Amino acid sequence: MSMINAIVAAVEQVTPLVKHFTFVKEDGSKLPPFSGGSHVVVSMDIGGRVHRNPYSLMGSPEATDAYHISVRKQENSRGGSVFMHEHVTVGMPIKITYPVNLFSLAKKGHKHILIAGGIGITPFMSQIADLNRLGADYEMHYAFRSPEHGAFVEQLKKSCSSRLHCYIDSQGEQLDFKALLGDQPLGTHVYVCGPSSMVTVVLETARNLGWPERHIHNEQFLSPPVGEPFNIQLAKSNIEIQVPADMSMLEAIEAAGVEADYLCRGGVCGRCELQVLETDGAILHNDHFLTDSEKVSCKKIMPCVSRANGKRLLLDL
Ligand code: FES
Repeated sequence: MSMINAIVAAVEQVTPLVKHFTFVKEDGSKLPPFSGGSHVVVSMDIGGRVHRNPYSLMGSPEATDAYHISVRKQENSRGGSVFMHEHVTVGMPIKITYPVNLFSLAKKGHKHILIAGGIGITPFMSQIADLNRLGADYEMHYAFRSPEHGAFVEQLKKSCSSRLHCYIDSQGEQLDFKALLGDQPLGTHVYVCGPSSMVTVVLETARNLGWPERHIHNEQFLSPPVGEPFNIQLAKSNIEIQVPADMSMLEAIEAAGVEADYLCRGGVCGRCELQVLETDGAILHNDHFLTDSEKVSCKKIMPCVSRANGKRLLLDL
């Protein structure tokens, strides 16, 4: 995948756990255009290993002199967010992918209900810029655990004014999903990004209330889970690779110098799908892309997030 050579132009601590990063192009020219809800994948060299994490673009899609992302520090993760917080400083070169949008607005929707939990606010920042530019009808519902963890609230008050509704858990404020989704005009679309528990409740509530599937949108990038090491064989490349405990299968394939497709690296887009030719163990499917029957058949795997626990896994790559 071709990459953009960028420079870190600014780093700002936004909340105790969230940092905001501004990237500009290394040669000073404009960055590629994008639409609200897009993300880029940031490439990081951590101790000689390349990590690639997806982050939503937050700035206005109209302003391409810089890209903006925010990263929540996850102490118990594989190190990408900690690296961004502790090692990425102003002036550092950084490689990012071209923007991809897997969470785009339904521009013909009559109304848009945006629901964010915590750091899930980030894709909505660029979507709000698009909605304001289009003069669209929308509501932004933003839940976070306490006032000091409410990232970008002042900015949102300015951009959304009365369309912004905040729910602060430590103050006993809860979002009533059923009431919110049960009282919307026909043609409304709902978008949710946040913890998986929140995404699940929103999806279930909307479906139970009879919302059409095409009006329900969610973004939920998964971090590749750690697990036991295992071996894979690549049939076309004719090599065997060990996947370490703290690396995804996709990262191990890339580290071995084999090119593999990806877009989200979070188990949602399906782009990295590989055919399983043989396996003698279980496949630990962690993606949100394959259907339940596809998962049971063990004929396909999403190497960005899924793992295996057998001795032999032969892939068509
Ligand atoms: S890259 Fe999107 S599902 Fe793997």
